[in-house]
Amino acid sequence: MNTIGNLKNKKLAGEKLTCLTSYDASFAQLLDEAGVEIILVGDSLGMVVQGKETTLPVTVDEMIYHAAAVKRGAPEAFIVVDMPFMSYKSPEDALINAGKLMKQSGVNMVKLEGGENQLDTVKKLSDFGIPVCAHLGLLPQSVHKTSGYRVQGREEDQANKLCDEALSLQAVGADMLVLECVPAALAKRISKSLEIPVIGIGAGVDCDGQVLVLYDILAISKGKRPKFSKDFLIGQNSILDALKSYVAAVKAAEFPAAEHSF
Ligand code: KIV
Repeated sequence: MNTIGNLKNKKLAGEKLTCLTSYDASFAQLLDEAGVEIILVGDSLGMVVQGKETTLPVTVDEMIYHAAAVKRGAPEAFIVVDMPFMSYKSPEDALINAGKLMKQSGVNMVKLEGGENQLDTVKKLSDFGIPVCAHLGLLPQSVHKTSGYRVQGREEDQANKLCDEALSLQAVGADMLVLECVPAALAKRISKSLEIPVIGIGAGVDCDGQVLVLYDILAISKGKRPKFSKDFLIGQNSILDALKSYVAAVKAAEFPAAEHSF
């Protein structure tokens, strides 16, 4: 059974960490069997399960429904659940909603998007014993503000700001960080400067681990697959084999390759 402690030890030992999203019990069970160490119940479910345009409409109750199903499918797995848009607009709201997510679904950690604007919230949750995974870089819940899904941190001042925010999030108690769609060199710099595991998506091979949306790696998401993803079902006989090949590729630092990075 994975814990924050042994995930941090794996980082220290230089072992790459594997993470995938899951939204139901059957896939969660397969992920666990394939050796995926962290299961993320992402609010991407709003897009890939519910067919919505963005993640914004997803509710806390919907996240609880899916997270509880994942927990039933993989009771021993380390499970992270996304806090949906506007469920953490103040530290007090965040505490109520994160508490509800943890109590009603039995997951191990909550994830929320943002940097310096979320420091008080991360501290509050951490002080109350709720493990937090922060999320920097491309923030899907801010897609309207950023005018689309774009690589973040290409400019030096933006890159320095992301580094500072990552360190500040760790200092106030974040136990993990997801870095989405940032240049590989920046992700390497952030991963090396933090003690907590940094899990990349579109952030290059030098992060401490990788996460992808399950439906992208099984090529069942509608529309064009993101550049940073890969169809792991090609050449495999089963979904379980595809998941195992993802785990093997991440562990061997063969995925992501340069073509999946910025
Ligand atoms: O919701 C999600 O699936 C995520 C990943 C893209 C990291 O947050």
